[in-house]
Amino acid sequence: MEKKITIIGAGNVGATAAHWALVRQLADVVLLDVMEGIPQGKALDLWQSGPLDGYPGTMRGSNDYADTRDSDVVIITAGLARKPGMSRDDLLAKNVAIVKSCAEEAVKYSPDCVMIVVTNPIDAMVHTAFKVSGLPKERIIGMAGVLDSARYRTFLADALGVAARDVNALVMGIHGDNMLPLVRLANVAGVPVTDLLSEEKIAEIVKRTQMGGIEIVNHLKTGSAFYTPGLAAIEMAEAVLTDSHRVMPCAAYLEGEFGISGYFLGVPVVLGKNGVEKILEFQLTEEEKTALAASVEAVSRQMAATGL
Ligand code: 2OP
Repeated sequence: MEKKITIIGAGNVGATAAHWALVRQLADVVLLDVMEGIPQGKALDLWQSGPLDGYPGTMRGSNDYADTRDSDVVIITAGLARKPGMSRDDLLAKNVAIVKSCAEEAVKYSPDCVMIVVTNPIDAMVHTAFKVSGLPKERIIGMAGVLDSARYRTFLADALGVAARDVNALVMGIHGDNMLPLVRLANVAGVPVTDLLSEEKIAEIVKRTQMGGIEIVNHLKTGSAFYTPGLAAIEMAEAVLTDSHRVMPCAAYLEGEFGISGYFLGVPVVLGKNGVEKILEFQLTEEEKTALAASVEAVSRQMAATGL
C-alpha cells in the first residue's frame, strides 16, 4: 500500500490497533515487539484475514527496527499496563525507559514520521518521546482525549437514550483523574446536554469518565482497557494518513495556547499529514481554567519524574 504504519508493542493495545488499521485498510503495518515470536504470530494471524475482509496490504511482525523503515506513522503502545490498585503514575519509571528506547530507535528509521504515543502515563510519555526523538512538536501527539471523549460520549448517550455518534463532547487536560470533561460544550446534535440532563446526573457522568480507565482495570484485574484505546490511536493515525483535517482532542505541545507553555496537554487539535496542523483555542470559564491548571500541575509533576 502507499502508506506504512509501525505499531510498537504487540500487547493488547498494539494488536487491537493493528486490527483496526487492517479493517480500515489504512496502510501496510509492521507490528514490532521485543518479545520474539509474539509480533510475528499476531501479525500473521491478522494478515490472514485479508482474503476474508479485503485488506490489500501486508501485516508483518518483527523484532527488528530496520523493518519499520520509512513509516508514515509510528504508534508507541509498548510498556506496562495498570493492575488494580495502581495509578498511571506508578508505571512511570519503567515506561520512561521503554518509551525512550522505542522513540529513539523508531526515528532512526522514520525521521519524518508522525509519532502517536499511547503508553501510560500518556502525558509524560509523549514528553519523553518528544525529548529523545528530536521530532518537531507538530509530529508528536499523545492519544488520550479521543478515548476519554469516547467514554464521556458513551455515558451521555446512554443516559439520554440517543445514538452515541450524535453526542459531541470534549475532554481536555491530562489523561488522569484531573482530566476535564467539558460540560458547557457537550451537546446532542447541537442541543446542550445541560438542558437535557440534571446537574447530578451530569456530575455522575463526569466522575465516571474521569475514572473510566480504572473502572475497566478493576473488572479485568490483569490489565487495562485496549479495544477503544487501540481504535482511538488508529482514528488519529487515519486522520494523519488521509490528511483529513479532522478535529480530535489530543495531547499536543502547548506554546501559549490556553495560557499554557511547555507542556503536552489534551486540547482540540486539527490533524493532518504533518500531525498537529492547528490547535483550536477558545475562551475557557474561570472554573474550567482552574480545572485545567490542576491538569498542568499533575503533568508537571510527571514530567519532572521522567528526568528529561
Ligand atoms: C485507560 O484509560 C489504558 O489509560 C488507559 O483505559
